[in-house]
Amino acid sequence: KKKLTIGLFGLGCVGGGLYEVLNRSSLIDAEIKTICIRDQNKKRTLSEYILTTDRYAILDDDEINVVVELIDDANAAYEIVSEALKRGKHVVTANKKMVAEHLDELIKLARKNEVSFLYEASVCGSIPVIRNLEEYYNNDSLSSVTGICNGTTNYILSQTNRGLTFAEALSKAQELGFAESDPTMDIDGYDSKFKLVLLIKHAFGITVQPDDIANTGIRNIKPQDLNYAAEKGYRVKLFSHAQKIGKHVLGMVAPYFVPETHFAYTVENEFNAIVVEALFSDKQLFIGKGAGSYPTASAVLSDIAALLFDYQYEYKKEQSVIDTFFTNDFSLDI
Ligand code: HSE
Repeated sequence: KKKLTIGLFGLGCVGGGLYEVLNRSSLIDAEIKTICIRDQNKKRTLSEYILTTDRYAILDDDEINVVVELIDDANAAYEIVSEALKRGKHVVTANKKMVAEHLDELIKLARKNEVSFLYEASVCGSIPVIRNLEEYYNNDSLSSVTGICNGTTNYILSQTNRGLTFAEALSKAQELGFAESDPTMDIDGYDSKFKLVLLIKHAFGITVQPDDIANTGIRNIKPQDLNYAAEKGYRVKLFSHAQKIGKHVLGMVAPYFVPETHFAYTVENEFNAIVVEALFSDKQLFIGKGAGSYPTASAVLSDIAALLFDYQYEYKKEQSVIDTFFTNDFSLDI
């Protein structure tokens, strides 16, 4: 039976959560051998012996066959992940910025070294959206993926609607462990955009760079805007949207007014929601917690479990099924 020996990078909100959920999940034969942390002086409840500040204590340990990367710094994460893949270790990460910026290169590196490179936790926390896009729609043709992909901004929008100021709501989101260490990533829509890059790859087989996508966040939304929305019976939601148009994909991140009848209206606080639209299956809605320690750790755990089955993303070829239908004069109402 296969046994996974994990080297964990990062023991913050998600790393700490993973440590707990892994200990509580008796079904997975995986053990954390070493944890690499940045600050050795920080008070922790863990027994000290598995903690290190030396990344090579994990990277150069041949017994460790899985690197789980849950640190904040995307550049350091990129170095760690590429070094781990080069050494033939499987990698699980939640670092959407790092993955979005280096996707094709890391996929190639993983393939070359015949290891898995999984990052379900990097998009929409607990919602298993990447694996669904990979596995479920193979014989269908996806036309759009739209949703709320950032818990922090959704929390701020929900709480300002309930009377908190923007600053109060943000600081609450930080306390609860939803926000990025640099919260402008959340507020200005970058985090939503990195996630959209990954959704586009798995929905349409197309690699785009984060810079290819325009992002407008919620920074400039004023109390007057929220009052206006409330008067009209609307709520404001920050959407990530990708739409297939012929062979092209339109992607954008922007706030919208949504009416009570819209699926997103009741998606509040740190919840995320994704609507996937395809030719045959039509619209499907996924909702779940998109940020926070345990929900994100649950997605990391699902990737670790997948490694026990040697799971790899297939990475669809760029889809052209919709075009084929149109050129054959076979048009369905999508
Ligand atoms: N800052 C992110 C969010 C964390 O608020 O959604 C989860 O990716």
